[in-house]
Amino acid sequence: MTQIIDGNEIADRITADLEPCLETLADAGVTPGLATVLMSDDGASETYVSMKRRACNDLGIESIHHELDPDAPADALFDRIDELNGDPAVHGILVQLPLPNHVDRQAVLERIDPRKDVDGFHPENVGRLVTGAPRFKPCTPHGIQKLLEAEDVETEGADVVVVGRSNIVGKPMANLLVQKSDTGNATVTVCHSRTDDLVAKTRDADIVVAAAGVPELIDGSMLSPGTTVVDVGVNRVDVSERRSEDSQTESDQSDTEKGYELVGDVEFESAKEKADAITPVPGGVGPLTITMLLYNTIKAASLRAD
Ligand code: GUN
Repeated sequence: MTQIIDGNEIADRITADLEPCLETLADAGVTPGLATVLMSDDGASETYVSMKRRACNDLGIESIHHELDPDAPADALFDRIDELNGDPAVHGILVQLPLPNHVDRQAVLERIDPRKDVDGFHPENVGRLVTGAPRFKPCTPHGIQKLLEAEDVETEGADVVVVGRSNIVGKPMANLLVQKSDTGNATVTVCHSRTDDLVAKTRDADIVVAAAGVPELIDGSMLSPGTTVVDVGVNRVDVSERRSEDSQTESDQSDTEKGYELVGDVEFESAKEKADAITPVPGGVGPLTITMLLYNTIKAASLRAD
């Protein structure tokens, strides 16, 4: 029987483990604060930020939200980051990506105080991760590590194929998996849009992490029996297009009403037939990403309190 990995259940367990850390901080008079900055009117970004804010409020982390007009000059965002860097009530800063084209994303990430960089995207934190001395592990790959650990998926000696080379998921995922550690020691291949013969690579893998941002790129024919499949994709697909392709497809009612449905980078039904274990979309990796953001925010507050 294929194991359908329940990301919500794993996330709830990790969140429960964070409560004693919050109590220790409270005893020291500290309430962790996470500042979110949204400079976009993209519906998906708005949804992600509101989910992060809700998770903070539910756990007792203070959520401090800032919105900037997407047409505002880049300096408005730099000034806001400077204010947040200097605000002692703010322990973590998250600038939601993507940013408008006129804003230099790398300059924004470098402007954030690396001790408040709970995304782990500042070059100082990237360097620390790559050299095996992480401060903040990026939330999605860290969540995937936790998920594999919770499911007892052995990474040591495993052949892992990461499909996607983004700075947010693919590259840090590969770095975490090759580290000398209990949740690393894997042999990692990073595939991307220019990879020759992707199928040959995925068929050789013990674990496939699909993070290319391409709807249903990986299907069952590309996998060998017994693979663990981690689907990071969150793609909004137009329901009318999909209905004409496949009238049998079921989808989340509320999303369908909005005119789209969420699909991963993995074609779930055929992949499920081959996989030993597989994460669904939604309800797989997503909840872990948010939980690891809470984890990093508490860590940022604890590092400051020390
Ligand atoms: N946009 C998509 N994923 C992320 C993330 O993990 N962090 C931020 N800041 N923006 C994102």
